[in-house]
Amino acid sequence: MNNNNFGIYIHIPFCMSKCAYCSFVSKRANEAEIKEYFKHLNRQIKQESNKFKNRHITSIYFGGGTPSFVDSRYIVEVMEHLNNFYNLANDCEITIECNPCSITEQKLNDYKKSGINRISFGVQSLSDECLQIIGRKHNAKQAILAVELAKKCGFENISADLLIGIPNQTSSMLLRDVKMLVGAGVKHISAYMLMLEEGTRLYEAVCINKSISIANDDECVNMYNCAYTLLKKEGYNRYEISNFARAGYECKHNINYWQSGEYVGFGLSAYSFYDNKRIDGFNKFDDYYSFVTQGIPAESFECLNKKQQIEETLMLGLRLQKGISLKSLLNLGYDILSEKQEVISLYIKNQIIQIEDGYLKVADNMFGATNQIILNLLP
Ligand SMILES: C[S@@+](CC[C@H](N)C(=O)[O-])C[C@H]1O[C@@H](n2cnc3c(N)ncnc32)[C@H](O)[C@@H]1O
Ligand code: SF4
Repeated sequence: MNNNNFGIYIHIPFCMSKCAYCSFVSKRANEAEIKEYFKHLNRQIKQESNKFKNRHITSIYFGGGTPSFVDSRYIVEVMEHLNNFYNLANDCEITIECNPCSITEQKLNDYKKSGINRISFGVQSLSDECLQIIGRKHNAKQAILAVELAKKCGFENISADLLIGIPNQTSSMLLRDVKMLVGAGVKHISAYMLMLEEGTRLYEAVCINKSISIANDDECVNMYNCAYTLLKKEGYNRYEISNFARAGYECKHNINYWQSGEYVGFGLSAYSFYDNKRIDGFNKFDDYYSFVTQGIPAESFECLNKKQQIEETLMLGLRLQKGISLKSLLNLGYDILSEKQEVISLYIKNQIIQIEDGYLKVADNMFGATNQIILNLLP
């Protein structure tokens, strides 16, 4: 779908240590490795800029790994490259993911000066016991102090990630965490269901050694519903299944992504979607470095066929509160209303989905069943 937004994602693949549940592409690294990575990253950003000179960049997202782990001069240098070689919108939303352990006043001041205007903290929980179980290196107090520090440095658009389904976590613990974050003034909260990813320490402990048990699906949905009710009462709108924001603080970058808008990813494992092409990133440093130094055009990599594009559009769009634009599906050649007439009629009759202003959306109280609904609506 072309909504005139264009995002840039920058992957920073370094962390202080690996959390027990995380399978993102990241590692611990020394200064020489970090320097080497940024040399290639900046080269890629400059090298590919010609292709995007007519694009108006509406959002930039530094994700990871942990962008706040590296010295802020590296981030500032990337921002300089983006400003020099890309056409950034005046109101471009620029987010950086930060870990409460690695943030300092100087880093935050440097981010602010470089044009970054949104901070997303990985808080996960405000129970020290839960944080310890999942291998976080900070405690609850440090997480709240990090939010306070960001406010002191002039950031008002602050988000916090929470996890649902941490071993030993209860609804009342989650509700207390939400209340504390609301009290601390964060404008946006992401509440993710904890996924057990193969190859992680948590997966091993739960699925292989059975030394830790976790809440079942019903218990997690119950915790999610409690958090949803409280957030709604506090004035946070659920605009995506896991994302809640005060009015005007919805994450533009992610909305563009969920609406199948276009974006380019730079760095290790960063994928892109533009000109109807999905381009995968490299997961190994050496492969990524060869790709950058040899100047291979990214377009020569995997493209999505029409069926895959429809599937992806449906899977992302139906997670949004607003739902999915029927026009965007028609543009991809999928007339969902006639091809899935029977199941759609049944869903509407049972108030599972609704059609409003050209959008097909999951009913508010059926969000827990989104994945099943998507499966039944795939072509
Ligand atoms: C790149 S991290 C955020 C920044 C920083 N690395 C940190 O953890 O503080 C992105 C977010 O993904 C979420 N995440 C990571 N692994 C997950 C998993 N297995 N299940 C659900 N959410 C996960 C966490 O909430 C995390 O904050
Ligand atoms: S959750 Fe964040 S800090 Fe922990 S390993 Fe993953 S990316 Fe790194």
